[in-house]
Amino acid sequence: MTFSELAAIVLLLGLAGVGCSRSPAMEPDRNPQQGAILLSAHGCGSCHTIPGVSGASGTIGPPLAGYARRAYIAGKLPNQLDNLMRWIRDPQSIEPGTAMPNLPVNEAEARAMAVYLYTLR
Ligand code: HEC
Repeated sequence: MTFSELAAIVLLLGLAGVGCSRSPAMEPDRNPQQGAILLSAHGCGSCHTIPGVSGASGTIGPPLAGYARRAYIAGKLPNQLDNLMRWIRDPQSIEPGTAMPNLPVNEAEARAMAVYLYTLR
């Protein structure tokens, strides 16, 4: 077998998803730091103080320190992953008129942010 044949096989295996298919940076569950970057990028920190998120020292919304130990989200929903993702994407449908605006956050981003918040104990 020539080197280029071998390279072609390795490439095909990669495309077929054999072995390690996703990079750690795309796997929020394994890399909560991704969530911290998103929380910063989406401006959540302009309203919330969030430990470990750069520039997140806002006081308009409640501080999110210790969020993993919180029983309820905004006093409304049991604090679990799917509910937290819903809240992050669409707080206005859960609590109409809340001062937290609906922000353009997709599902993967909301998941990454929630995963990060659950590292806060
Ligand atoms: C304009 C200010 C503002 C921005 C921006 C904002 N929030 Fe909020 N957030 C609030 C307010 C105010 C509340 C309290 C809502 C309530 O209880 O009705 C809140 C509540 C929350 C809660 C529930 C807190 C609790 O005590 O249970 C979470 C979680 C949260 N925000 C996450 C985020 C995330 C993540 C982002 C960024 C995508 C974000 N917020 C952006 C103002 C904001």
